[in-house]
Amino acid sequence: MVHRMNLENAIFRELDENDDLSAFRCSSEDLNDYFQNDVNKYNKEDMAKSYACFYNNKIVGFMSLSADTIRVKWMQANVIDGIRHNYPAIKIARLAVDINHEKNGIGSSLVYMAIGMANELSKIIGCRFVTVDSKKDSIGFYETLAFRKCLKQDKRHYTMMFLDLHIIKENLLREKTCSLSNFS
Ligand SMILES: CC(C)(COP(=O)(O)OP(=O)(O)OC[C@H]1O[C@@H](n2cnc3c(N)ncnc32)[C@H](O)[C@@H]1OP(=O)(O)O)[C@@H](O)C(=O)NCCC(=O)NCCS
Repeated sequence: MVHRMNLENAIFRELDENDDLSAFRCSSEDLNDYFQNDVNKYNKEDMAKSYACFYNNKIVGFMSLSADTIRVKWMQANVIDGIRHNYPAIKIARLAVDINHEKNGIGSSLVYMAIGMANELSKIIGCRFVTVDSKKDSIGFYETLAFRKCLKQDKRHYTMMFLDLHIIKENLLREKTCSLSNFS
């Protein structure tokens, strides 16, 4: 059963090793396995940092972020006049929403959080893109958030996608509705 929820009552924060992970279930067994068994190990090893959405004190979504680079030639033509072969990025390494809480805006809120954090990071170190290796079923989800598929794909089960922070900033400036710091 999918629960309708008011996202204003949700809390988004960094995952803590004392958080109870046991009740979370998404539709991907790989991601459930990672979340139950590996998420804290990745955190301790500085392989990824994870953030969760809490609703009624229960975890209903999470994402793990890592540093990444993206090759300019993998992107579609005219995306960027590359001054280097590789550009720095933040990668959404894992993202999942509890199966009973999908389609409530949690997944997109976590992606906005990643975009806001990439923007904050870009003020202190170079960071131009947000990347993701999308599962085939989730490509449409990332496309609703303006991610684009890379031209070159080298992974069998995933589709590499990217979002240019400069484009997002230009669009927000044009619309003058909010700034990226609203998302971090
Ligand atoms: C993909 C996933 C993270 C989406 O999370 P969610 O909280 O349900 O998504 P949202 O409610 O924020 O949806 C945002 C928009 O994307 C659309 N959308 C959601 N899932 C979609 C999908 N699989 N394909 C196409 N569009 C999708 C929604 O309809 C919504 O569109 P709208 O703004 O026009 O209403 C979630 O379904 C999930 O955890 N899936 C299993 C694990 C997975 O595939 N993770 C991604 C790994 S790369």
